[in-house]
Amino acid sequence: MRRIPHPIPYQGSKRHLAAAILPYVPAGRQRFFEPFSGSAAITLAAADQRLAQHYVISDVLAPLAEVWGMIVNRPQALVEGYEDVWLSQVDDPAGTYNRMRDEFNRDHDPVKLLYLLARCVKASVRFNRYGEFNQSADHRRLGMRPSILEREVAGAHALLAGRTSVLACDFRDVLAKTTPRDIVYMDPPYQGTTNGKDQRYLAGLPVGELTEALRRLNDRRVPFLLSYDGFRGKQRYGEDLPAELGLRRVLLNAGRSTQATLNGKSEVTVESLYLSPALVDTLTVKGPALQPPASFPVFGRGSAAAPSRAARVIARSGDRTPARRRRWAAGHPARRGPNGRPDAPRSGRPLGNALTLNGTRRGLDSACRSW
Ligand SMILES: C[S@@+](CC[C@H](N)C(=O)[O-])C[C@H]1O[C@@H](n2cnc3c(N)ncnc32)[C@H](O)[C@@H]1O
Repeated sequence: MRRIPHPIPYQGSKRHLAAAILPYVPAGRQRFFEPFSGSAAITLAAADQRLAQHYVISDVLAPLAEVWGMIVNRPQALVEGYEDVWLSQVDDPAGTYNRMRDEFNRDHDPVKLLYLLARCVKASVRFNRYGEFNQSADHRRLGMRPSILEREVAGAHALLAGRTSVLACDFRDVLAKTTPRDIVYMDPPYQGTTNGKDQRYLAGLPVGELTEALRRLNDRRVPFLLSYDGFRGKQRYGEDLPAELGLRRVLLNAGRSTQATLNGKSEVTVESLYLSPALVDTLTVKGPALQPPASFPVFGRGSAAAPSRAARVIARSGDRTPARRRRWAAGHPARRGPNGRPDAPRSGRPLGNALTLNGTRRGLDSACRSW
């Protein structure tokens, strides 16, 4: 498999398992849905192999979905915005990070989220109980260089533009749009990452709610794949899913655990991939054998250049003049009001759609935003 672009640093990304998961995705589907998209690693890999006619990327974290909307529709605006923020940090990286985090918690600007993800500890989102991003900066590095981001965004844009819809939605609202002619890949938050004072993701997901949604997909014969639980050494993570769902479980070798290696242990992580009954029927009839491939290539860093068509898109991104960089360094005044004071936070730009914190659906409107 070719190297797949990876524009959004995101803890929990499935890019290292893409080559192991894709053999279970049948070709020729009408639409490929990824309703817990995060960095959308599997969508990008599927698009690289042209497995579907259309792709739907969706996440409950609206600014993250908006980053995807920009990658698909306005890549140069994203790259320029990121470069401006990134350059503005040179004299005071720690102060800039804190300022961007404060601003993001007010305005939910997708460019700021991308910068925070590039700079924060382990590229891992964390939200407090008020839904505020509260992850700290990793002070050992400045985050992905703009030239690297430009290359990754260009590559992703080339794969997705013209054939992708982006939504900010609760996964249930996305699943309601699927039909048996589609294919759905889901990588929901694990139980262990959704509870407690600080949450890894904006919204948690009780296993019962997930199970109910899977049951409905089965009833409608919509084929799906689900990454859910696994093992690290002898330690198991994630709960068992009910047997009556009829899912076929495949174990994927996710490689050595970095943390265990640091601790002098040599533990392999094994992740489960569940295949729905409708999918198993499809694969049995015309797909690959239901055995995982013997070895799983791990993508190397920077091993291939971005596609040239994409490079041309980014090349049209216009001048980034020193004056413009200085304006950003002086406090991002492009977003200031006419009297020089910062504009009020953008109202009507919610952080999450259709779901409140802690995984319940209280009080938020269920309309999806789309790009
Ligand atoms: C494990 S991560 C997915 C990582 C992804 N597979 C990748 O390759 O980067 C889970 C994602 O689900 C999102 N999420 C959590 N609860 C959700 C919900 N109820 N509906 C939609 N998305 C949700 C989180 O914001 C997070 O981005």
